[in-house]
Amino acid sequence: MPKPIIELRHVNKYYSTSAPGSFFSRQQAKARVQALDNINLEIYPGEIFVIVGLSGSGKSTLLRTLNHLIPPEEGDVFFEQQSLTSLTPARLIALRRQHIGMVFQSFALFDERTVLDNVAFGLEVAGVEKAERHQRARLMLEKVGLAAVADQHPHQLSGGMQQRVGLARALVVNPSVLLMDEAFSALDPIIRREMQSLLLNLQAEHQRTVVFVTHDMEEALRLGSRIAIMEKGQLVQVGSPEALINAPATPYVRHFFAGVDVSRWQLAENYADVWPTH
Ligand SMILES: Nc1ncnc2c1ncn2[C@@H]1O[C@H](COP(=O)(O)OP(=O)(O)OP(=O)(O)O)[C@@H](O)[C@H]1O
Ligand SMILES: [Mg+2]
Repeated sequence: MPKPIIELRHVNKYYSTSAPGSFFSRQQAKARVQALDNINLEIYPGEIFVIVGLSGSGKSTLLRTLNHLIPPEEGDVFFEQQSLTSLTPARLIALRRQHIGMVFQSFALFDERTVLDNVAFGLEVAGVEKAERHQRARLMLEKVGLAAVADQHPHQLSGGMQQRVGLARALVVNPSVLLMDEAFSALDPIIRREMQSLLLNLQAEHQRTVVFVTHDMEEALRLGSRIAIMEKGQLVQVGSPEALINAPATPYVRHFFAGVDVSRWQLAENYADVWPTH
C-alpha cells in the first residue's frame, strides 16, 4: 500500500456567522457554524479523489484546508507525511506554488495578460527565466489544444477555452497535486464532457493526484477513482463508485445516485431487481 500524499486527522473548521462590528455582534459573538466536523481522510498518489455533497456541506472548505488556504482550527493536515502546521509561512507558500495547483469555477485569469503569459504566470512567480517559461507554457497550451490562441487575451475566448487556460496555468509548474473546485460546473454540457475527457487524457499521460469538487454525480462517476460524500461538514462515506452504488451507507448517499445511470457499476445480483429473470 503506498503512503498517502495527503492525510487529514481530526480536522475541525468553524466559521463565525456574525459580521464583525454589526449591531447584533455582541449577542451573536458565539454564533458559529462547523463547516468541517472531525474529518479523517487519506488521499493516495495518482488517484482522482472526488468530493460530492449538497451546497453548504463543506466541500470548498475541505478542499482549501488541503493546502492550508483555510487552516483548520483543530486537527492536522499532512502533505507527504509532513504536518502543514509545522511549516513557516514562506515554506507553505513555496509548497503551494511548486506542488499543489488549483483550478476554480470562475477562471480567475488576468485579462491584461495574453493567454501565454497567463499560463506562464506560475513559472514567473517561481523565478523561471522568460525564454524557458514561454517554451513550457507553449508546450502546455499545445496539450490543452490552445496553441493557436497563445497571443490572444482571455476575454476573447469562450468559457471552455478559458477553463483550458486555467488548467494549463495550474499544470505548467508540474504540481503533484491538483485541487479543482467545481472547475467544469460553469460550462455547457458538451464542453463540460470535453473538459472531463481532457482531464482523463492528461491523467493517463502523467498521473497526478487530483482532488475534484463537484455537485454532479455523473461527473463524479466519470472521473473518480474514489468518491467522498459530504453532509453538514462530515464525510458520510468514502469509497470506490462500486462501493457507494452497491452499498450506500445512508439514504443521503443513495439520493445522489437518483436518476443517474449506474448500471456499469452494479454488481450482478442487483440486476435481478432491474430485469426480473422470470
Ligand atoms: N467565509 C465564510 N464565513 C462564514 N461562513 C462560511 C464561510 N465560508 C463558508 N461558510 C459556511 O460554511 C459551510 C460550508 O461552506 P462551503 O463553502 O465549504 O460549502 P460547499 O459544499 O462548498 O457549498 P457550495 O456547493 O455551495 O459551493 C456553509 O454553511 C457556509 O455557509
Ligand atoms: Mg463550494
